[in-house]
Amino acid sequence: MKSLTHKGVEELIPYPPGKPIEELERELGIRNSIKLASNENPLGPSPMAVRAIMEKVHGLHRYPDGSGYYLKTRLGKELGLPIEQIILGNGSNELIELVIRTFLSAEEHVVQAFPTFLVYEKVVKGAGGLISSAPLSDFRIDLDAVFEKITPKTKILFINNPNNPTGSALKRDQLLGFLKKIPNDIVVVLDEAYIEFVTDEGVANGLDLFKEYPLLFVLRTFSKLYGLAGLRIGYGFASERLIDYMNRVRQPFNANLLAQAGAIAALDDKEFVARTLQVVQEGLRYLYRGLGEMGLNYIPTQTNFFLIKVPSGGKEIYNRMLKEGVIVRSMDSYGLPEYIRINVGLPEENERFIRTLKKIL
Ligand SMILES: Cc1ncc(COP(=O)(O)O)c(C=O)c1O
Repeated sequence: MKSLTHKGVEELIPYPPGKPIEELERELGIRNSIKLASNENPLGPSPMAVRAIMEKVHGLHRYPDGSGYYLKTRLGKELGLPIEQIILGNGSNELIELVIRTFLSAEEHVVQAFPTFLVYEKVVKGAGGLISSAPLSDFRIDLDAVFEKITPKTKILFINNPNNPTGSALKRDQLLGFLKKIPNDIVVVLDEAYIEFVTDEGVANGLDLFKEYPLLFVLRTFSKLYGLAGLRIGYGFASERLIDYMNRVRQPFNANLLAQAGAIAALDDKEFVARTLQVVQEGLRYLYRGLGEMGLNYIPTQTNFFLIKVPSGGKEIYNRMLKEGVIVRSMDSYGLPEYIRINVGLPEENERFIRTLKKIL
C-alpha cells in the first residue's frame, strides 16, 4: 500500500491549534489583552493604505491584475529597479514557497542557520526536500558554519537578515565575502522582512548585494513596517532570469486586489513609517532599561523584536503572562527554551509588559 504522505511531512511538528485572542480572553476571563508575540506593528495599519483599500472594495467582483503592474512600478521607483526584476507574493511567505517549488529538484538540498524563521524548514520538508541547519554563534548567524554545511547537492540557502528570532544582523562585508566564496550555482534567499528597522549603517542590504551575486533573491514584506500583516502582501527582487522562472510557477492572482492597492498607498505613507520607526526605537530604549533594572538579560536587536532570558523558562513565563493578558512568544520550537521573544508595543503596552513581568517574577 502507498503511504499517505512522505517522510518530510511526517517529520513536521503538527501546527498547534491556536485560538483567536477573543476566544482566549473568554476562556481565561480576561479583557484588553495585548499581543507582543508576532512582531506586528503596534500602531495598526498605515492609514493611507486603509483609505486606498476602502476605495477598491467595490471592485472585488474582478480578479486582480495578475502582473501587479502598478505596485511593481511603484516598487521599482522606490528600489531603482525595472519591474522585470520584481515579484509580488501573498505575503513574503508565499515567495519562500515559490522559491522552493521553482528551484529545488529531487535530491537537492537546502541550508539555513538555526534558530531562524521556522517557515523555511516547514516549506522545504513539506516539499519533500532536505534541509540542514548551521548553529548560530552567540545568537548571530555564523557564515563559516553555514559554509561548512554546503555540499555539492546544496541548491538553496536561506539567510534571514536581520535574523528572527535573535534580531542580530550581518554586516555588508561579511555577507559579501561569503557570497564571493560559495559555489555560484546556489540560489541565496536573503529574507529582509525587518530590514527597515535596522539602525546600524554597516548592516548588509540586499539592494547593494544582488548585483554582486547573480543568484541572490531578496525578500521583503509589507507586514511589519507598514502594518499590513493581515493583508498578505510581500515582494522579492532578483535578476530578471530568476524572476522569470518564478513567474512561470507563480499562481496568476497570488497578490490580491486590496493588497496591491493598499501596498501602493503604504509606500507613500511617509508619516506612518516615521512614526513606526520612532515608536520602535523609543520602545526598545524603554524596554531595555526596564529589563536592565530587573537584572534580566536580553539580546540587543536591529529589529522591532528581541529575546529575553527568563528565569523559570520561556514556556512557564508565556503561560503566566497569558493569564495576565500579555501575549508573548515562548521559544521552545526555536530551540531556545530559556527565552521569550517580544516585539515592541505602544508605550502603554511596553509599560504593561514590564509591570506584568515584574509581578509574575
Ligand atoms: C523572517 C521573516 N520572514 C518572513 C515573514 C513573513 O512575512 P509575510 O507576512 O510577508 O508573509 C516573517 C513574519 O513573521 C518573518 O519573521
